[in-house]
Order: sequence, then C-alpha cells, then structure tokens
Amino acid sequence: MKTIAHISDLHFGTEDPHITTELLAELDGRRGPIPSLVAVSGDLSQRARISELAACRSFLDRLPGPYLVVPGNHDVPLFDLPTRFMRPFERYRQIITSTLCPSYVDDELAAVGINTAHGFTFKGGRITREQAEVARAQLTSLPTHWKVVVAHHPFVLPAGGRPHDRVLGADEAIPILEDAEVNLILSGHLHVAYASDVAGFRNADKKIVAVHAGTCISTRLRGEPNGYNHLTIVGDEVTIVHRTWSGDQFVDGVSKVYRRQRARFVPVRVEQRSHV
Ligand SMILES: [Fe+2]
Ligand SMILES: [Fe+2]
Repeated sequence: MKTIAHISDLHFGTEDPHITTELLAELDGRRGPIPSLVAVSGDLSQRARISELAACRSFLDRLPGPYLVVPGNHDVPLFDLPTRFMRPFERYRQIITSTLCPSYVDDELAAVGINTAHGFTFKGGRITREQAEVARAQLTSLPTHWKVVVAHHPFVLPAGGRPHDRVLGADEAIPILEDAEVNLILSGHLHVAYASDVAGFRNADKKIVAVHAGTCISTRLRGEPNGYNHLTIVGDEVTIVHRTWSGDQFVDGVSKVYRRQRARFVPVRVEQRSHV
C-alpha cells in the first residue's frame, strides 16, 4: 500500500497559521501514518517574496517523509520585471529546490514533476512536447509502478471551467503521457478540488485520472473551504479522499475510488461523508 498527500496552492504570505499547523500535523505523523509521498503542486508563495518562499522552505523541512514539489505561476516574481523575464525561478531554485523537474521512485510509486509555470505569462500555464517526452522517458522503464505526474496547471477542467485555465499544450501532452502509462495527474491552480476521469472530458479512453487540489492553507479561497487530497493505492485501486477544513480540523469530504483494468480506469464508487 502507498499513500500520497496531494497539497497545493499554499500561498505562503496569505496562509492561515491555524490551518498550517493542523496540515503539518496531518503530514508529519501526529495525526496518522506519514504519507509515502507528499506531492506539492505549486503556488507555494503569494508573490515569490524571499520571506514567503523561506516560510515554505521551513514547512517542507518539517516533513519527515519524501516530498516532490513543482512551482506555480505565483512562484515567479510579479512586479520585478527583469527578474521575472530573465531569471524567473532564481529565488525558487535558491530557496526551494534547484530542480524544476523533480522525480521520486520507490518500489510501487514513480512520480515526476513538470513545471507548467513561466515567467512570460502572468497566470496561464504551458507544457511543451519536450517536457512530456522527458516524463515519458523517466516513466516507461517502470512497467508495474503507479505513475504519477505532478503539475501546477490543470490538464482537465471541472464542469464550468474556463478554457484558458487549462494548461496550454495539454492536447499534445496527454497522448504522450498516456503512452507512458501515466495513471494520475495531480494539479492545482484553480483553488477548487475535484477528481475526475480525464476521459470524461476528452474521449472514450479512460487511461488517466486527473486529480485537482484546492488551496490547503491560504485565505485566498474561491467558494470552497481549504482542503487537500489523500490518495491510498492498494493493488490496482486508488481511493482519493478530499480532506476538507471544517473550521478547526480537516475531515473527510468526497471520496472517489478508481480501479485500473487493462490499462484503463473504471470508477468504482463515489461517497460524500455526512459531516461535511
Ligand atoms: Fe494558486
Ligand atoms: Fe496558480
């Protein structure tokens, strides 16, 4: 069994200290087992200020287990234009991690991070064919692993989502990721959570489950409470539970279960816990 805590859009600088403390307790073993992997899908800071990235750095330093982190559009300086265009990830690289395409592999999980944020766009994201090919090269030699891509901008939009919020290049990248037998794409950016079958939005191939996290600790909410996703992988089944902030603690919200079946996914069940 493997577990992934998928957190996103921390936006240090606008974080709620109480929620931050409780989230850390969920990830560091005080509220349960330490996750096999913490996947952080970008927007670590509000304005890429050194103090904000340093606060995120100290949060990451307190995680006892492995984590994989990618930047978001907010991790590029907004107002410092020379830095924004010439060295957009300089602060991120200095404070968070030197790599923009991290990877993690254990005996069952293989995860790769893809940077979809860029200095020359203010909000939207982009994945290039080359980035998708790099991910394919990293993952194809691992035929039995659960394969996970972590990226900030969504590849699949929720119902009613605006087309420009979808990462540019998704139509070209998704077939490459499908060919690499990617099982899960974990993303953020929209500050709303949903977990859906990518095929439901694209075509009849049910090969990738797209998982989206809301903002885990920021006060920049968009109509839903803070939350993060807890994924449990047992054999060929993944259970995705949206952990929602109730006002004083995280509680289980919507839960979705998918089963891998001949390289495709079959939705097994959806549950809504009564206390949310
Ligand atoms: Fe964000
Ligand atoms: Fe974002």
